[in-house]
Amino acid sequence: MDIILLGPPGAGKGTQAQRLEQRHGMRQLSTGDMLRGAVRAGTPVGLKAKAVMDRGELVSDEIVSELIDAELTAMGDDVGAIFDGYPRTAAQASALDEILARHGRSLDHVIELVVDEDALVERITGRFTCANCGAGYHDSFKQPARPGVCDECGATEFKRRPDDNEETVRTRMVEYRAKTAPILPIYEERGIVSRVDGMQAIDEVTGNIDAILA
Ligand code: AP5
Ligand code: MG
Ligand code: ZN
Repeated sequence: MDIILLGPPGAGKGTQAQRLEQRHGMRQLSTGDMLRGAVRAGTPVGLKAKAVMDRGELVSDEIVSELIDAELTAMGDDVGAIFDGYPRTAAQASALDEILARHGRSLDHVIELVVDEDALVERITGRFTCANCGAGYHDSFKQPARPGVCDECGATEFKRRPDDNEETVRTRMVEYRAKTAPILPIYEERGIVSRVDGMQAIDEVTGNIDAILA
């Protein structure tokens, strides 16, 4: 089963994708995580992407579609994919159709996380992750059970994203409204869009997504 999680920055795409990986044995394919990995590694893609990401704008369609294609090639055909933060433009949506067809795969669900944009700035500016395993946390909504110690791996180093400041978040939201929200009708025509209230507690959002996938 292959699904897209769609929603503005801070909607909870990454949070829910990590849970789906654990519950359903699927694989999270986050273009944001891949790009941040490329920036850290100092690859040519990372060098190109860094300034664009720091401004909150979109990296080129070709770069992200190539990243997704490579991940699907490396991944088993029997493992379901959770597309997190991809596609983000009409050009990426058609590239994904072509890539999936080439891999003999198809989309089962597009799940839109519907959220109140005013709450998102707080979510994003409070977010931090484990520097070792990437588990996600939040200053107010999801602290580790033992302060300063990752629940998943016991590491004690955490990090914050450079694009998680208010000004960049505003630009990311403008990009979402202008370029990403308009791709929803493509999937609505295919009858595969479901909406989930992303303002509920994290567990409730997961419950609603589980019900859609069942
Ligand atoms: P990307 O990494 O995809 O960022 P984003 O879309 O802006 O989304 P976020 O990761 O900020 O939010 P999320 O929905 O994953 O929320 P999360 O679960 O963390 O992209 C970054 C940049 O890379 C882009 O700006 C662009 O430059 C580039 N890029 C990436 N993909 C691209 C593409 N396809 N094309 C072109 N450029 C691309 O949740 C946020 C916080 O809220 C967490 O702390 C979490 O604990 C908390 N939280 C989550 N759910 C809840 C809840 N229900 N209640 C309370 N708190 C919650
Ligand atoms: Mg994310
Ligand atoms: Zn960890």
